[in-house]
Amino acid sequence: MSIDLFSSVELADQNLNNRIVMAPMTRNRAPDNIANAMMAEYYSQRAGAGLIITEGAQISEQAVGYPATPGIYNQQQIDGWKQVTEAVHAKGGRIFVQLWHCGRISHPDFHDGDLPVAPSAIAPAGEAITFEGMKPFVKPRALEASEIPGIIDAYRHAASCAMQAGFDGVEIHAANGYLIDQFIRDGSNRRTDQYGGSLENRSRLLLEVVAAVGGEIGHQKVGVRISPINAFNDISDSNPQATFNHVTASLNGLGLAYLHVVEVSMTGETSADLNTGQLRDRFDGVYIANGGYDRERALQTIASDAADMVAFGIPFIANPDLPERFRREAPLNEADQATFYGGDEHGYTDYPALDAA
Ligand code: PHB
Repeated sequence: MSIDLFSSVELADQNLNNRIVMAPMTRNRAPDNIANAMMAEYYSQRAGAGLIITEGAQISEQAVGYPATPGIYNQQQIDGWKQVTEAVHAKGGRIFVQLWHCGRISHPDFHDGDLPVAPSAIAPAGEAITFEGMKPFVKPRALEASEIPGIIDAYRHAASCAMQAGFDGVEIHAANGYLIDQFIRDGSNRRTDQYGGSLENRSRLLLEVVAAVGGEIGHQKVGVRISPINAFNDISDSNPQATFNHVTASLNGLGLAYLHVVEVSMTGETSADLNTGQLRDRFDGVYIANGGYDRERALQTIASDAADMVAFGIPFIANPDLPERFRREAPLNEADQATFYGGDEHGYTDYPALDAA
């Protein structure tokens, strides 16, 4: 059978129905940081994706950075997510949870007044979203080397919770200016210990997290997301191609589920070009491409073997049946930006599917 966007693909010991991925997207609809029935409905509506990757789920209290985002580290949170995984599986879908630590993209309001943590004490430009509205980011506290094993263990624990919640695997969020990305990129990492300086040192946290999580649940159930040229969250690197070629080569050969690459900058501004082919060439496993793809470009990308799967974000917010619409070349619903973050069913579970439209 020939390979196209609608053909099956092997991932995490599973046969996925197609090569269309629902990208992870924060929606801030988990009051008390617990996934709920409304979220189960939202994700199960989108179970036609070959793979769903959930919104970021914080791995610990320290990891939180936004209001009403779900966690994946205690029993109540496991029970909340169980509703989601059961609803998605009942419709034949597959779902990974994204493991998230926000690092400096947080605010003391989320930590009883304590500072957020980061590789180095460098404040990002911009503002945190708090329960009381926008507040300037603060200068974070640089992590002691002695604290890092505890963070790695929190990732391992979260992965164990993910298995208890019924997920098919986990995605380690190493993208978009959050903690792991803060270690990888030299604009935010000025450490002089074994976690800073050389490419090897800046990649160390990611690789230790991968080893711990893979050791807990099996590397074939672990994906990694990177965003080499994304400037979102005031993150930068002096040589993103070299940095992420190294990161990618280091991840190769570990038997991971996939490498997921945000190929663009979410802010529009980008200081650098990225040759994604160099990443593709360095990784033997499943390569998921993401960043402003539409149906046409996704078809071409799979046909030319530039990626194995393509992840869609905003189109999946507005189109619960996106793969079916792509199959039928049907028109797409427009997404309403005003309801992306927070709120209720409106703009969440009330986008119509084709047959209802
Ligand atoms: C967001 O809340 O806008 C957000 C969260 C996580 C990401 C990217 C964006 O990785």
